[in-house]
Amino acid sequence: MIMSSRSFAEYRAMFAIGDQELHGVILDCGGGASGFVAEAAAMGARALASDPLYALGVDVIIDRLSADLDQGNAMISANADRFVWDWYGSPERRRKMRLDARSAFMADIRRRPGSYLASGLPRLPLADDSVDLVLCSHLLFTWAGRFDRGWHRAAITEMSRVSRGEVRIFPLVRLGDGEPVDFLDDLQTELRADGLVCARRRVPYEFQRGADHMLTVRKRP
Ligand SMILES: C[S@@+](CC[C@H](N)C(=O)[O-])C[C@H]1O[C@@H](n2cnc3c(N)ncnc32)[C@H](O)[C@@H]1O
Repeated sequence: MIMSSRSFAEYRAMFAIGDQELHGVILDCGGGASGFVAEAAAMGARALASDPLYALGVDVIIDRLSADLDQGNAMISANADRFVWDWYGSPERRRKMRLDARSAFMADIRRRPGSYLASGLPRLPLADDSVDLVLCSHLLFTWAGRFDRGWHRAAITEMSRVSRGEVRIFPLVRLGDGEPVDFLDDLQTELRADGLVCARRRVPYEFQRGADHMLTVRKRP
């Protein structure tokens, strides 16, 4: 799995994050080399990331980032018709955003390692209701070829356990063909039966063609 490095700006758009939401505790689940936590912390927000790859240690992670960025860019070039550039403006602008985010991540994980939790879904080493907002970018649904519906249900249940607010997941389509995940409706039915409230909400971001919705999940009051 590619360890990508989306920026704070991409996260704000993908998850339609409002100014007010930056005042709570935010968890970036499957954070990879995203700059979100670093950039949010620099603005005074309290943010944490979790990812099993953090167990590899900073040097190993940093070593593989360039190869992962190249692999991601090659995949986009090979499937150019599946992407829209309105949000980024150009491939160069996207690339610069990713490199800046990666630099912010690298500096932050060295300076504040305690904000990067080495753990993998469907388990999180956090107490019930301990964060205000959980974000999950390009892990669930993106990798539906690798993780089945049961895993998604367990992962969403776990993210909801630690959140006293909302869980937001983006995108809702598969990597590669960009098609909607076929088990999404059934999964939502299961989550509702588990006592969770879920909805699809449009966001002001689209890169994979047609991928402009996130899934929001919260505990039923
Ligand atoms: C495509 S990257 C996305 C990184 C970042 N969220 C972004 O949008 O740039 C997917 C990340 O999910 C992580 N991952 C893989 N399995 C995971 C699991 N079981 N729980 C949490 N994260 C996982 C990978 O290590 C990888 O860093």
